[in-house]
Order: sequence, then structure tokens, then C-alpha cells
Amino acid sequence: MGRRHLISLDDLSEDDLRWIVNRGADYSAGSLDHVRPPRERALEDLIVGVLFRKTSTRTRTAFSAGALRLGAKLITYGPGDLQENTGETVDDTGQVLAGMLDVLVARTAGPEAELRAYANQDRMAVINAMSAGEHPTQGLTDLTTLTRRFGSVDGLRVLYVGEGNNTASALALGLSRFPGTELHLRTPPGYGLEPDYLHRAQIHAKRAESTVEERHDVDDLPEVDVVYTTRWQTTGTVKPTPDWRAVFAPFQVNQALMDRCPGAVFLHDLPAHRGEEVTAEVLDGPASAAFAQAENKYHSARAVLEWCAGGPR
Ligand code: CP
Repeated sequence: MGRRHLISLDDLSEDDLRWIVNRGADYSAGSLDHVRPPRERALEDLIVGVLFRKTSTRTRTAFSAGALRLGAKLITYGPGDLQENTGETVDDTGQVLAGMLDVLVARTAGPEAELRAYANQDRMAVINAMSAGEHPTQGLTDLTTLTRRFGSVDGLRVLYVGEGNNTASALALGLSRFPGTELHLRTPPGYGLEPDYLHRAQIHAKRAESTVEERHDVDDLPEVDVVYTTRWQTTGTVKPTPDWRAVFAPFQVNQALMDRCPGAVFLHDLPAHRGEEVTAEVLDGPASAAFAQAENKYHSARAVLEWCAGGPR
């Protein structure tokens, strides 16, 4: 089977989406441990390029460790390493790298079109490790975490509180494809989900008989299984308005908000700023699964790498 790109969750068929999520959950549960090797060597003899133009703790480590664990060799590129810095085009770079690498994991934090330019060939799989609009591997991690925690994603109800950023758009595109799920977005006014992502998620929702709805207050909260938030300052971005903190303040996930969602599990994609989007009491409290979610980035990354490289051998 050939190389496959993962630029957006919308690149995945229903079967592919479920395969990656379930595979990641199996890794997370340790149920694939007994089959290593040979399955744990699914990337044997492959070379994986890891290009991060922006900072990362989880995603970069998850994909690097995952690729090494699966038997691949790594080449890493920091923000100043490629000749793109001296004017070489993204298209030319993609064409050249495709002649030498099997997989490229790239965090550009820029437009998706840059990653599509790298992916304009079929020799090297390209994985979006976070672009400006979408963070698809985070979305897959989140679905994996939900599967591990609840047994299935179907029918789960999630309250997302905070900026409609690239993690929120991936969550919307992913969750909406699972039947009977509910995604309730509560985003600050002026900082909602990009309309294109909301529209695409609502199309999925119609097909899957799920729900995606957005409001810009936290007045009436629905009954939910999960409360999810993310950092107010997404990596590499600045807010256009100076008074943004006042606008975001009511959207902090604190114990008072959690008390309005009894029994809900708390998720956070991390990194966190304790005292901003979430209090330490919640992040470090008994309802929090944020650090298990972070570890699932590694388990999910192995599933993504396997799928992009052509499936387990
Ligand atoms: N959640 C996430 O993408 O973390 P990093 O920025 O550390 O990779």
C-alpha cells in the first residue's frame, strides 16, 4: 500500500478515522505490546523527517518517539534549517524531500496550503503536526482518549470552553463524525470557530445524526460527559485586540464551572497556563485526564505513522 497524507481530518474516510482511533486506543491499552516485534517495527528501514517551525513538547516528542519505536530513522529540522529561509519555495522543498524521505511530520503553524504543497507528490507521506487552522493529530489523540476512557466515542457529549482555535476545529471535525455525539462550543465573542470549520463539522453532524452548536457565553451549560479547554494563547499567535483577557475571563474552567457539569471528565490538550484558561485545582484535580491525554499523543502518533506509511506490515 502507498503513502498517505494526513493534512486534515477531512482527508480520512470513516473507516480510516476509526482504524487510527482504535489502533491508538489499542496501543494506549497496551494490547499491542505482545505483538512486538514484528508489528512494532512497522516503519523498519523508513526515514522520517520531523520539521517543526514552532515550539512543541508533546507532538514532536510523540512522533519522534513513535517513529523510533516503530523502527524508523529520524532526521529533524528546526525553524532555521531549510533553504526555505533563503527563498526556496515550499513546492520545491517538498519535491526534493520526497526523493529522500518516506514520511514528513511538519508543524508549520501557517496555512494548510503549505502542507498541501509538500504533499503534492505520492512518495513521501505528509503529516500535519499543527497548521494555523487545524491540529488533526490532536483531534485523533482526543478521540483516542475518549475511546479509552468511555469505551466508545459514539453518543458522547462534550462541552468545549475557550478559543475556537486549531484544536477546537479538529475536535469539531472529528467528533461530529461519530453518531449521536454532541459538541457544545462556548467561545468568547470574536474568537469563535472559523466559519468554514463550523460549517464542515455541521455537515458531518447532519450525516451522523450528531450535534455541533456554538454560543458565545457560558450562561446555560448542557449536561455533558466531558469539559474541554485549551490555552488562550495558541502557539505562535497573538490576539488582535488589547483587551482580550477581559473577553476571555468568563470562559475560565474553574471548580465553579466544573460543579455545573457533575461527573464530567476534564480534558486539556496542553500546554496549560494555570490561572488563565484553567485553574490548578481543576487541571490537577480528580476529574482531570489531561496528562493521560498527553500520553495518548504518543500512542496515537504510532497509529498515524503506521497509517500514513501504508498500514501495518
Ligand atoms: N498539544 C500540543 O500540540 O502540544 P505541543 O505544542 O507541546 O506539541
